[in-house]
Amino acid sequence: MKSYQNMSREELLQEKQSLEEAYKEFQKRDLSLNMARGKPSKAQLDLSMDMLTVVDRDTDMDVAVNVDARNYGGLVGIEGARELIASMVDAKPEQVVMGGNSSLNLMFDTVTRGMISGYLGNTPWCKLDKVKWLCPVPGYDRHFAVTEHYGIEMINIPMTEDGPDMDMVEELVSSDPAIKGIWCVPKFTNPQGIVYSDETVRRMAALKPAAPDFRVFWDNAYCVHYLYDEVKIPNILELAKEYGNEDMIFEFVSTSKISFAGAGVAGIVASKANLDDIEKTMTVRTIGHDKLNQLRHAIFFENGAKILDHMKLHADILRPKFEVILETLDRDVKELEIGSWTKPQGGYFITFKSLPGCATRIITLAKEAGMVMTGAGAPFPYHKDPEDAYIRIAPSFPTVEELAVAADLFTVCVRLASVEKLLSC
Ligand SMILES: Cc1ncc(COP(=O)(O)O)c(C=O)c1O
Repeated sequence: MKSYQNMSREELLQEKQSLEEAYKEFQKRDLSLNMARGKPSKAQLDLSMDMLTVVDRDTDMDVAVNVDARNYGGLVGIEGARELIASMVDAKPEQVVMGGNSSLNLMFDTVTRGMISGYLGNTPWCKLDKVKWLCPVPGYDRHFAVTEHYGIEMINIPMTEDGPDMDMVEELVSSDPAIKGIWCVPKFTNPQGIVYSDETVRRMAALKPAAPDFRVFWDNAYCVHYLYDEVKIPNILELAKEYGNEDMIFEFVSTSKISFAGAGVAGIVASKANLDDIEKTMTVRTIGHDKLNQLRHAIFFENGAKILDHMKLHADILRPKFEVILETLDRDVKELEIGSWTKPQGGYFITFKSLPGCATRIITLAKEAGMVMTGAGAPFPYHKDPEDAYIRIAPSFPTVEELAVAADLFTVCVRLASVEKLLSC
């Protein structure tokens, strides 16, 4: 295969014609494919069905001192659930407060608390003229939606292979007191699947913020979501403690992509001072979360002991899906020099980076041939990808057979959009 970069205009025109024919063949197939959202597949959800029967009328409901799982009370969660969440991120159960069914919900509540009440006695952000937030890009669209919802000014931070550009983060955080937070997905980032290096985690823990209420939002959504071997990163709370920064970290964890998406359990891991602060608001917000679901999770996963074995079952389902996409890209795109892509060792996504100015066109072409992909610009604050180049591929939900077709169609769309672009230059 010859690189498109080295093709003459005539060769490109010829390539365009044959790609248009291939594309029309896909259109005739009346396909209905979806690689848009990172949802577990049915086969993955089936792995946890026994959870629905581990709690029954004979179960001991008095799961911690004075807490009956069926009744109000036990705001911070039952012991087994706190142990489960702690086990996933090498924390201690007493560092965990359980939320409800979603970590995003906990993140939203935590930003809300900064806005309305202020952290640990600091001025609520709603009383300030300006609040800013650092957003490593590409990143998770729903993070950006939370900060956008509150009118917080979002600043793009480029991602490197080791995580966010820490020179830029350090410079901004230490000089601007209006910067109150940073979104981080430290392991298998959404959407690139990058793992922060030990050095990045250490530098993040050692930040010297100008704002006393600056917080690192450490969304460890994919902490145990390995496709191959286990990958360890340092425990940021422990590191932050060494730097006197213990209160600077909020870590979020959930079982959404371990048990049932949207019906799992979630927790926040933080310093004692922060946890006390959180509880003060939580006690107004709810009399308690769903402890029966916490109990189901604690029993099914043996307070965390079974998580890694369970994740291997997920990996067996997910691995071939990632591989079919990656193999197709290697086969049909690699030598053409019209894009690059990540090869994640875990998580839920692959990111394809096209030639500048091609992402919207590729996604439109895919849609018009029956394949829905995450919208161009979605992994950026305000939906604005300055290069119009990043495309998030979510291979978890379709079957391997569907993905094989999806990958073929995707490469045709990438090639066609790239040829059009090169011809227009
Ligand atoms: C990085 C990240 N954080 C959080 C979530 C949502 O998690 P939850 O279901 O616990 O709200 C997702 C879901 O895609 C995610 O990718």
